[in-house]
Amino acid sequence: MDLYEYQARDMFESYGVPVLPGIIADTPAEARAAAEKLGGVVVVKAQVKVGGRGKAGGVKVAKNPDEAEAAAEAILGLDIKGHVVKRVMIAAGARIKEEYYFSVLLDRANRSYLSLSSFEGGMEIEQLAEERPEALARIEVNPISGIDLAKAKEIAVAAKFPAELIDKVAPVMVKLYEVYTGEDATLVEVNPLVLTEEGDIVALDGKVSLDENAAFRHPNHEALEDKAAADPLEAKAKAMDLNYVKLDGQVGIIGNGAGLVMSTLDVVAYAGEKHGGVKPANFLDIGGGASAEVMANGLEVILGDSQVKSVFVNVFGGITACDAVANGIVAALEILGSSASKPLVVRLDGNNVEEGRRILAEANHPLVTLAAGMDEGADKAAELAAK
Ligand SMILES: Nc1ncnc2c1ncn2[C@@H]1O[C@H](COP(=O)(O)OP(=O)(O)O)[C@@H](O)[C@H]1O
Ligand SMILES: [Mg+2]
Repeated sequence: MDLYEYQARDMFESYGVPVLPGIIADTPAEARAAAEKLGGVVVVKAQVKVGGRGKAGGVKVAKNPDEAEAAAEAILGLDIKGHVVKRVMIAAGARIKEEYYFSVLLDRANRSYLSLSSFEGGMEIEQLAEERPEALARIEVNPISGIDLAKAKEIAVAAKFPAELIDKVAPVMVKLYEVYTGEDATLVEVNPLVLTEEGDIVALDGKVSLDENAAFRHPNHEALEDKAAADPLEAKAKAMDLNYVKLDGQVGIIGNGAGLVMSTLDVVAYAGEKHGGVKPANFLDIGGGASAEVMANGLEVILGDSQVKSVFVNVFGGITACDAVANGIVAALEILGSSASKPLVVRLDGNNVEEGRRILAEANHPLVTLAAGMDEGADKAAELAAK
């Protein structure tokens, strides 16, 4: 889960990372009030979960409350790379002397943590990595020893901070690492980390991604989730504990095992090319123990997607044998009754497949077509979706 900048700012503050005061506002009037409260020059900042807000016109300096109100008026409703701004943060304006870059992230390939940092900030990090890779220090961080003051100094030296700044910037890096581990984040990024004219190091922007697998350790993280912004089908699936990802196509997919579901998406996309370019509508892995209830929940979510025209159920019977899955499908269709209104192509294979097919054939549900194989099933489902 990615956080909004204002949430990252609050989190930074609670760990003692130097930040500037910031107040969120959902209307221009609230923005004016926030600017009055902060006093002096402020910066009105779009709160969207995408980078490059500055360049897109989502960050504006305001010298007084009038200007802050006008800036909020301009920014609220703005579409930044497909994200519509619903909220702004009014931040105290910094007098920036220099901009730097610092991040710490999970390095999956190396099964380690990685710190990226640079004395040369103010540029998009992807651009810096490409154009001046030598200016970006990549320092591996051992997850056991982490970033203590000595390690932070090593990072600062590698990032080419001048000697007189190292003692200033290193403690901030240590605190940012404390946010990273303390909150079970997979990314903490500050771009820019700045030196102000007053000589202070301040985090002026913040990007934090939290590891949802660690949510059970952080009861306070749930409140950070923007439920209104989540896709309603994904939110429903999440509430039902389903591994569901909404996609753009017309063929609903249900399978068991992430690998099988991924290859089902591929064969359906491939088969769809022959049928007017229909595509998979979702990823849904109902897992090992596909009970009737789980099957019904999965079908309910998929049938709730108005773009879906047909559904392909592709299940390999393993621990849960095909007869149990077939009974699950029959029971699910009973549970759903008339709300199940789109054709279903079912392909079963594996443990007890004969019995599974017999159960479905005997139930003889008008919406269900049995497919002998995966390719055949994908083709049939794509054909039905194209009709
Ligand atoms: N509180 C602030 N005071 C002064 N300048 C700011 C402030 N916040 C951001 N800026 C300036 O705006 C630029 C873009 O803001 P930032 O928060 O980094 O957004 P983004 O990375 O999405 O473009 C920063 O690099 C900085 O120069
Ligand atoms: Mg930034």
